[in-house]
Amino acid sequence: MPRLKEVLKGVLGEEEIKHLYSSFDIIGEIAIIKIPDELVERRHEIGSAILRNVKHVRSVYMQVSPVKDVYRVREVECIAGIDDPLTIYKEYGCRFKVNVAKVYFSPRLSTERARIASLVRDGETIINMFAGVCTFSIIIAKRNPRCRVYSIDINPDAVALCNENIEINKVGDRVSAILGDAGEVIVHTFLDTADRVLMPLPERAREYLPYALMALKAEHDCYIHYFTHVKGSKGEVDKICREELEGIMGKGAYTIDGRRYRYTFSIGGMRIVREVGPRMYQMVADIMVRKWLGQ
Ligand SMILES: C[S@@+](CC[C@H](N)C(=O)[O-])C[C@H]1O[C@@H](n2cnc3c(N)ncnc32)[C@H](O)[C@@H]1O
Repeated sequence: MPRLKEVLKGVLGEEEIKHLYSSFDIIGEIAIIKIPDELVERRHEIGSAILRNVKHVRSVYMQVSPVKDVYRVREVECIAGIDDPLTIYKEYGCRFKVNVAKVYFSPRLSTERARIASLVRDGETIINMFAGVCTFSIIIAKRNPRCRVYSIDINPDAVALCNENIEINKVGDRVSAILGDAGEVIVHTFLDTADRVLMPLPERAREYLPYALMALKAEHDCYIHYFTHVKGSKGEVDKICREELEGIMGKGAYTIDGRRYRYTFSIGGMRIVREVGPRMYQMVADIMVRKWLGQ
């Protein structure tokens, strides 16, 4: 992908170019760019230059708010090309319909999606608690034909796109989309069910971790992929993340419907997924859990 500063040479002056963020996202045929306040009035020229210079882009959107609210969607404004926020994004041989104005989507998680898909073992049952348009779920299911993935999301537009993406990628025998709050759906339908639980909602992972534990099978070695945001220097975030997890999970027991469960856990791996702000990192921890019924 060309650097934004290269694309806009000749459109903006040298001083103006210094204000720009260096990268932008391309999702299918759509480019999404953040434009600093100093340059907002030049947005249509910036958009047109991207349209002329970046192959396969037919629409350019400016991000006008950060990712926000329960659905984690960013507000966007079309600044060049066709105003149609629906596009097809390809990743690891799968195709995903994405509406950039109505659902969360980030191409920047692609390495993480491939990594988790490679960890799944034959025949696993997986719960994706915050599935978006089903990217993790479908990539896992394509790579592992004998697994079963339940994909939960609270945004009806995300679930509708999930269902279309399940069709497009022909994984209807392995992936189901469920609309609802992940905690409620687990308590209602998926207690003691999963070999592996994915939690790709860093902002609320802490409060939903107890539900991930409830979803795991008893008497099995199971895994939780816990995404979180950690503030600190690169050198200290591992320790901070470990302490966060030990604080939440250290109790080693929980009770549901009058049944008392005990568990042990170990943090197998931990990595920085990406930098999300100054001294702020998105991290993922792979947690191995073994739980059993008993006092
Ligand atoms: C960061 S996005 C997921 C990204 C997705 N896994 C991907 O790879 O593109 C988080 C998703 O969680 C959903 N969400 C937020 N709160 C939720 C809840 N309580 N239960 C279920 N889904 C929720 C949002 O609608 C959003 O689609």
